[in-house]
Amino acid sequence: MTAPPPRVRKAVIPAAGLGTRFLPATKATPKEMLPIVDKPAIQYVVEEAVAAGLDDVLMVTGRGKRALEDHFDRNAELEAVLTGKGDTARLDLVRASTDLATVHYVRQGDPRGLGHAVLCAAPHVGAEPFAVLLGDNLIDPADPLLSSMTAVREELGGSVIALMDVGAEHINRYGCAAVESAGRDGLVRVTDLVEKPEAGEAPSALAVIGRYVLDPAVFEVLAKTEPGRGGEIQLTDALRTMARDPEIGGPVHAVVFTGHRYDTCYRGEYLRATVRLACRREDVGPEFRTWLQTFVARDLAA
Ligand code: UTP
Repeated sequence: MTAPPPRVRKAVIPAAGLGTRFLPATKATPKEMLPIVDKPAIQYVVEEAVAAGLDDVLMVTGRGKRALEDHFDRNAELEAVLTGKGDTARLDLVRASTDLATVHYVRQGDPRGLGHAVLCAAPHVGAEPFAVLLGDNLIDPADPLLSSMTAVREELGGSVIALMDVGAEHINRYGCAAVESAGRDGLVRVTDLVEKPEAGEAPSALAVIGRYVLDPAVFEVLAKTEPGRGGEIQLTDALRTMARDPEIGGPVHAVVFTGHRYDTCYRGEYLRATVRLACRREDVGPEFRTWLQTFVARDLAA
């Protein structure tokens, strides 16, 4: 009898990028620490990993990213002050990020691209399948994606990426996948990948979004992947090699996501994420929704 495939247990969160698209906020603050309502974006990402059963988290960081480590560490002084005041509600908030998961860190040194950041995780991950969650991409907590991806990996092996239909007019901003049917709704088999295709040359309108479940064979491929677009080692290039040759690390499947996802390095998407999540909050939500309705009906209509 063959052994069952290993369960996906580890999550890698690359967060070493410079975040230049969100300057000046990111001059001295990591973009992953920008709050959506009152919680740093990165905490939503770690919560998403934990919700999918991955509680071993490796963050790939670099210069200027100390705040990430501090956020997931204890803050004894703050806890003592809140304990002294008997402010248990805020104490719980402060402790929540520490108690969430076991968070490990590795530094990337030079930010030589997303593929290089993932390669920095190799010693921690070893020979297991693992998930990659981009620290600046938010998946709406109401639309779970990662657990459906790990389920596909556990059933079919290989690697699993997430795709989203962004429309033919926007596909040139993204990695784009050529796909074929996998014989079931919401799942496709990836046959090729093209980074930011020119208009008219895209094989589909399906864009790669920042969630991956990868076979550890990706490390060997990344180690041999030459710098591509922007002089950076691209994860998409390694995945293209794997999609074209299933002998390397098994097939590449994709879950086609139809929920809400926000690329928080774009100002507009950051604002949309903030408004949507604020509206849904039980504490600030009711008052904010009332204000928003009035703002749209009266101020915007004026
Ligand atoms: P991006 O290219 O979107 O991030 O990388 P960036 O470099 O911070 O963006 P801009 O263009 O300067 O605004 C996607 C993800 O990969 C990580 C980033 O932190 C982000 O989560 N990344 C990127 C690394 O960890 N290391 C790198 O060398 C590059």
